[in-house]
Amino acid sequence: MKITKTKKELQGILSGKSVGFVPTMGALHDGHLDLVRASKAHGLYTAVSIFVNPAQFNDSIDFEKYPVNHERDLTRLCEVDCDVVIIPTVDEVYPNGMKQMEYRHDFGSIALDYEGAYRLGHFEGVGRVVHTLFDMVKPQVAFFGEKDYQQLAVVKKLVEITGQDIEIVGVPTKREKSGLAMSSRNERLSPDQMKKAVKIYESLKWTKEVFLEISNEEILATIKDRFREDSEWSLEYFDLIDPKSFKPIGFSKPSNIRAVIAAKLGEIRLLDNLKIV
Ligand code: PAF
Repeated sequence: MKITKTKKELQGILSGKSVGFVPTMGALHDGHLDLVRASKAHGLYTAVSIFVNPAQFNDSIDFEKYPVNHERDLTRLCEVDCDVVIIPTVDEVYPNGMKQMEYRHDFGSIALDYEGAYRLGHFEGVGRVVHTLFDMVKPQVAFFGEKDYQQLAVVKKLVEITGQDIEIVGVPTKREKSGLAMSSRNERLSPDQMKKAVKIYESLKWTKEVFLEISNEEILATIKDRFREDSEWSLEYFDLIDPKSFKPIGFSKPSNIRAVIAAKLGEIRLLDNLKIV
């Protein structure tokens, strides 16, 4: 496995190859490795970037505490046969600063609610870095986890806006045995919080079970009440949405629905979603 810090060296390594790209912020777990496995299964020369993108954090504590462990990440990537890893510096990614206009995109209504509303500037930062990394890597296919379902929609919109000829593949969320969605932020949970965190997946699963039996209003009210039972939890949003528009379905029961949820457990923000019907 090759490792580089520079765009120039990376482009030399990738020249003439059909590339599958997995952008990450490091602190890799088995969910990330699934993205690499998916790229390898497509028969692609697989490049992974490890870059904690300052432009997408609206919370400085979350940025400062974001787990970094390159040695462990590289060992894991080697184990799944990754071909090349780029670990660039902030200057390598943003040589002209983080505010360059050509990397600023308006993703319209799909980016306004949920993560867009709770993490102001987040999708602008994600769009900026993903566009820049796509320019750097020039992949044929790029792989993103479905855990960040709204991000996946934003990235699909990004390639539509920029005209970059890249296929975007969403890979199903990898879960712990308990059902908790794998996330780099889980590393910051205490053993007790790890147990409590299962509430997120249980809420989604329960919603799927009762969706056709009770009203949407009752589902939303029940979930909100359940999170109020424990003061360590602070529910940011739970909603039933149309996954194409990222708008709430209200009282209706259409045939393609996803439930989306974000909640803080102590200081740690957890995020998940599930296809309901
Ligand atoms: O999902 C992530 O880890 C990040 O948002 C991404 C796509 C690597 C951009 O920094």
